Amino acid sequence: MLHLALLFHLLAFSLADQSDHGGVLDLFEGHCRYLSFLTLCYHTHPQCPKEHPQNPRWKLNNTDIDLSKHGSHYSLSGGNLIISNPIRTEHVGKYSCLATNMYGTVISQEASVQFGYLDLFSSEERLAVHVKEGQGAVLLCAPPPHYPGKLSFRWILNEFPTFIPLDKRRFVSQITGNLYISKVESSDRGNYSCIASSPSISKSVFSNYIPLKPLAERSIRKYPADLRVKFPHTTALVGQDIILECFALGNPVPEIRWKRMGSTLPHNHEVRMAGAQLLLLNAQFEDSGTYSCDAVNLKGKDYHHANVSVEANPEWVEHIVNTEKDLHSDYTMSCNAKGVPKPQIRWLKNGEPLNGKELRFSRLTSDDAGMYQCIAENRHGVIYANAELKVFFGAPKFPHNPVKRVLAPKNGRVVIECRPKAAPKPTFTWSKDTELLSNSSRMSIWEDGSLEILNVMPADEGRYTCFAENDWGKANSTHPLVVTGKLLLI
Ligand SMILES: *[C@@H]1O[C@H](CO)[C@@H](O)[C@H](O)[C@H]1NC(C)=O
Ligand SMILES: *[C@@H]1O[C@H](CO)[C@@H](O)[C@H](O)[C@H]1NC(C)=O
Ligand SMILES: *[C@@H]1O[C@H](CO)[C@@H](O)[C@H](O)[C@H]1NC(C)=O
Ligand SMILES: *[C@@H]1O[C@H](CO)[C@@H](O)[C@H](O)[C@H]1NC(C)=O
Ligand SMILES: *[C@@H]1O[C@H](CO)[C@@H](O)[C@H](O)[C@H]1NC(C)=O
Repeated sequence: MLHLALLFHLLAFSLADQSDHGGVLDLFEGHCRYLSFLTLCYHTHPQCPKEHPQNPRWKLNNTDIDLSKHGSHYSLSGGNLIISNPIRTEHVGKYSCLATNMYGTVISQEASVQFGYLDLFSSEERLAVHVKEGQGAVLLCAPPPHYPGKLSFRWILNEFPTFIPLDKRRFVSQITGNLYISKVESSDRGNYSCIASSPSISKSVFSNYIPLKPLAERSIRKYPADLRVKFPHTTALVGQDIILECFALGNPVPEIRWKRMGSTLPHNHEVRMAGAQLLLLNAQFEDSGTYSCDAVNLKGKDYHHANVSVEANPEWVEHIVNTEKDLHSDYTMSCNAKGVPKPQIRWLKNGEPLNGKELRFSRLTSDDAGMYQCIAENRHGVIYANAELKVFFGAPKFPHNPVKRVLAPKNGRVVIECRPKAAPKPTFTWSKDTELLSNSSRMSIWEDGSLEILNVMPADEGRYTCFAENDWGKANSTHPLVVTGKLLLI
């Protein structure tokens, strides 16, 4: 039995077809736990409550999974979803979970569940292929239905394990599985079988034999190069290997030459399979372009070209983080991702979609608090960023540091700060000893609460008190002011 743990970034994975076997398949290990704990709780708060958040809700293809349904294959273990005896027709699809705690709700990245399989070849008899010596032949593989898409192909001649060697004259396409012989010789007579192998489920299947019957010719004719394998327009992700295939029939056996239009071949290239494959290792954006192959022999030339484009998964340039803002303050949440094509950004608040490219709040209210997620997606992938927005409100409070004497130079200028923690923003008043202060030519009370005194005089010495008040309450803080330098100037 195959156990596959889904990693946080992994989107798709395959399971061997389990329908005939018993057993429990542990899907999404660590996945929902990550979301329900780390994101909602651990990351957010040092004083996070120790109890588990509510059990997550799981969805399949965006529909709630009814865990209590009789005969259900589903169960929960610590937030993880477990599917027992999964069945291809019932359990294939896109899974996501919603986790809720006291701060809000987040929804997980989707994970798609697929079953790996490779059916048997069709049992239909294969027709014999009759070819004149010197002509080319194509034997079709026609692989059976399978998942995932990637198969590797080989051909055997007459009996296992006599694999057909691949040389300039013979080629097996790793895309279609077809066997190409550019120029048939009498020694090619025999029975051929295509073997398709799925590396992900370690299974191989054989086709029925195809008899190849070369027809003897008195004088063997020559034929011009004729490209039969032509690589398609190809898109790959940065860092992946790209394989392009070209193969031609013809007598004499044609030579294949690879080129890139308007440029040279990138230095990370390799030519394999006697010229029939061009491999671009660890593809980079600059490897994009139009590639061509020429097939040439004495009788003529054939030519093909197609485009290769290198693209990339979304990646964060900037994303939201846990934030605490004051009531009635302004705030903008923004997320920015790179990728090719350029990813689209979507937003969720407590698991529900929101509109807009960025979220702008003017005058935050307590309703704006919650769990926010931004999602960047292009055709290659999707990434999530999760953050809690807390909206702070409360009566003014001064930090409990010891009262500091304020020193002011005689004839100079001094600013006494008044910075209580408060939301919404308080109103400020100042007093000196028992006298209430107001703006004058020498004194001003700033917008942020600070008191500025210009042209300081010895008579300014005293106890200055800042009073801050908002809807939730009030507080005060007192600073003694000492004028310095007064003895030096007589
Ligand atoms: C979920 O959606 C996929 C793709 O649309 C489909 O193939 C699959 O059968 C669906 N799964 C279920 C259980 O309906
Ligand atoms: C190919 O298969 C046929 C039928 O099974 C058999 O008669 C024939 O001898 C085989 N040819 C070779 C070259 O093995
Ligand atoms: C291939 O690339 C060329 C040059 O960039 C462009 O003009 C052409 O439209 C592309 N063709 C396709 C099918 O993408
Ligand atoms: C004092 O003046 C400043 C500008 O210099 C102004 O922002 C502030 O509101 C004034 N304070 C009072 C109490 O009038
Ligand atoms: C200043 O604050 C203290 C508590 O920090 C309070 O006891 C006192 O009454 C306040 N003074 C005035 C004048 O409000």
